[in-house]
Amino acid sequence: MPAELIDGAAVAKKIRGEVAVRCAALAARGIVPGLSVVLVGDDGGSAAYVRNKEKASIEVGMRGETIRMPATTTQDELLAVVDRLNADPAVHGILVQMPVPKQIDPQAVIRRIASSKDVDGFHPVNVGKVLIGERDGFAPCTPAGVHVLLQEYGVETAGKHVVIVGRSNIVGKPMMALLIQQGAGGDATVTVCHSRTPDLAWHTKRADIVIAAVGRPGTITGDMIRPGAVVIDVGTSRVADPTTKSGMRLLGDVDFATVSAVASKLTPVPGGVGPMTIAMLLRNTVRAAEQTA
Ligand code: GUN
Repeated sequence: MPAELIDGAAVAKKIRGEVAVRCAALAARGIVPGLSVVLVGDDGGSAAYVRNKEKASIEVGMRGETIRMPATTTQDELLAVVDRLNADPAVHGILVQMPVPKQIDPQAVIRRIASSKDVDGFHPVNVGKVLIGERDGFAPCTPAGVHVLLQEYGVETAGKHVVIVGRSNIVGKPMMALLIQQGAGGDATVTVCHSRTPDLAWHTKRADIVIAAVGRPGTITGDMIRPGAVVIDVGTSRVADPTTKSGMRLLGDVDFATVSAVASKLTPVPGGVGPMTIAMLLRNTVRAAEQTA
């Protein structure tokens, strides 16, 4: 039997609905949650993501704003914008789209954002809170979205072995932190594999849940998966495809044809993890607004 597909678009829609209700409750008290997204330069992929973020935030009843800055922006100019947003009480969430141009140190920017407005969950204070299991911090949106998908689909994590492939600060490391916490959605045994791991398949074959987040299409094939395992594909590589309208196609890290034949549940690309990321950003933003109210 082919794997059940995990419908991230449907779960994301449900979460956006819940966020809209919370926004309406805040609006009744005169508070409109505000999300400010800063885009430096004109990377095609980033511009599309940023447009989606602005549109999604307005749809749930937030004040969504995009600040576009030229690719030649200096670090001081960007930090001055962050300072202004930090000081603005109408702004509850700040997101500086990554990657930033090379003259700017991304860590300097992330550290400058007030941790209470860091809805990306990238600030060291939030990284630390997620690691020690404090609920008032912000978890990065993509791993938080994966965590919600597993729970929505009734995937037990307690006592299970999760193998994460990829050790990025945005996905792999925080994913590990969420899954090893005590309590619902946690209590997993977690292995984090990366580019220096010998014999990746030896690890993935022993996993009840595989989470692939390396950004390299075809990394996970069916012969690397234990029959019945749950497979989550975080990859979003944009590759040229002249047969599509945009000339581009999104590819995950998972070889869909071979993995769907052995896994019990699988996230498609697109329509799996991707839509969850924006939904979790909106959820973090409404919580940031509630925490100031
Ligand atoms: N670039 C790609 N994904 C993200 C994200 O989740 N947040 C930010 N700030 N930049 C990104």
